[in-house]
Amino acid sequence: MEFTIKPRSPEKLKTGLLCLPVFANAPLPSLASKVDEACQGLLSAVIASGDLEEKAGSTLLLHGVTGVAAERILLSSLGPSAAFNEKAWFDTLSAIGTALAETPAKEAAIAIDGAALPRNPVWALRQAGRIIADRAYRFNAPRAQENKKRGAQEISFLFSATPDESQKEALRQGQSIAAGMALAKDLGNLGGNVCTPAYLAETARALGKQFGFKVDVLVPDDIEKLGMGAFLSVARGSRQEPRLIVMHYRGAGTPDSSKKSKKKTSPQNAPIVLVGKGITFDSGGISLKPGAEMDEMKYDMCGAASVIGAIKAAALMELPIDIIGIIPATENMPGGNASRPGDVVRSLSGQTIEILNTDAEGRLILCDALTYAERFKPGCVIDIATLTGACVVALGRIPSGLLSTDDALADELTRCGNDSADRVWRLPLWDEYQDLLKSNFADMANIGGRWGGTITAAAFLSRFAGSYKWAHLDIAGTAWNTGENKGATGRPLPLLGEFLIGRAARQH
Ligand code: BES
Ligand code: MN
Ligand code: ZN
Repeated sequence: MEFTIKPRSPEKLKTGLLCLPVFANAPLPSLASKVDEACQGLLSAVIASGDLEEKAGSTLLLHGVTGVAAERILLSSLGPSAAFNEKAWFDTLSAIGTALAETPAKEAAIAIDGAALPRNPVWALRQAGRIIADRAYRFNAPRAQENKKRGAQEISFLFSATPDESQKEALRQGQSIAAGMALAKDLGNLGGNVCTPAYLAETARALGKQFGFKVDVLVPDDIEKLGMGAFLSVARGSRQEPRLIVMHYRGAGTPDSSKKSKKKTSPQNAPIVLVGKGITFDSGGISLKPGAEMDEMKYDMCGAASVIGAIKAAALMELPIDIIGIIPATENMPGGNASRPGDVVRSLSGQTIEILNTDAEGRLILCDALTYAERFKPGCVIDIATLTGACVVALGRIPSGLLSTDDALADELTRCGNDSADRVWRLPLWDEYQDLLKSNFADMANIGGRWGGTITAAAFLSRFAGSYKWAHLDIAGTAWNTGENKGATGRPLPLLGEFLIGRAARQH
């Protein structure tokens, strides 16, 4: 899909589909009113007739309007002007995005009126670019041909004012985030037989090649030598070999701090480390899951996919910051060599763990990755994981769970989630929860009992999130849709994109 920015005059634009956001009960925004004049008031008459529903996100398609060069006009409601806010803008964009993805027109245009935006144009265009590009996503693998027939390929944005560089940039940023989301969704939607740990590693490698950054892929021998006993304990039950994938996106041009270099990295330039849970299929292991909906455990690598997607987005945006992506990737399977409940394993940190339930495997692979993160002297570490069913019970499928030992980082992530309609909700991480992880046979158990499962999982991770600022995103309820619309969502990439853009702006 290609975005271009065109000068005004929407009424004269030859296009397959012209999208005009309009308020339910207020004068037409300037671009729409030009079109209205050209068709002798047809638009205002249609709106007055009530055919376009008031609710933000409602649409009405008009065909062959005389006096206007466009073949079709899509009126899309911004809702009542008095109630106009970010949510209404998001709803309008989603509706326009859906229409664009389904239209037989090959090219289309959208009117962007400075006066009809709920916030500054840079923000609005970044969201627009992302939502419209994201709506066109189709999972292509099995039915490529039939999926390609509809949807506008070229979309022009018509501004009511002359757009400046930062606004054009914002549109490209939105598109870059959507490209990261598309990659993350593809990886999530693929079955576990295709999207294996080696496949994730190859995907990361190919990205490194494309954008010119380093990707290390550690194989079982390397992981063993490092001493990642917790990570390896999960991999043992599977015929698929595990991989530890380390992506080094060095947009700030800082030398690799894990190699001995005399140059001190200032905290300002310290890398952002993203850690993603990469369980390519979670059967539960010996603590086998029940059969219902077990197919959805192919999505248990969505944390990993969002790290890969975030780095792709950052590379496309050429963000001048350093990002390290760390992905422990493995299957969780019940094999003859699999971990048993009661096994005690030794993590990379030296702390020992009694495995009481092999289905609590995410924390076992993440804890070693969090210890590994330390060597990069991170400015902050964010791990992203489909970690607990309890998170879906607590919060449903609206926000991701956020747990953090750093209030400023937690607030920053919360803000980024609100700004991109990819919200998070913070849960407490008080010391009292640590008691639930007591074990008679090791430094800790890998489960904390029946209650507060999302929190005890994060409490477990916090013991490995040593000396840096750390936040944990539990995306168990948000990484994919279930039921009829089953499919990866690409979350929390909108949030992460916003976060990385913000960090890049802060640094320069
Ligand atoms: N990948 C699952 C979490 C999950 C379950 C995400 C369902 C989305 C939907 C994770 O590895 C897991 O199995 N967690 C257990 C932890 C329990 C054994 C303490 C869970 O949530 O039941
Ligand atoms: Mn599990
Ligand atoms: Zn899992």
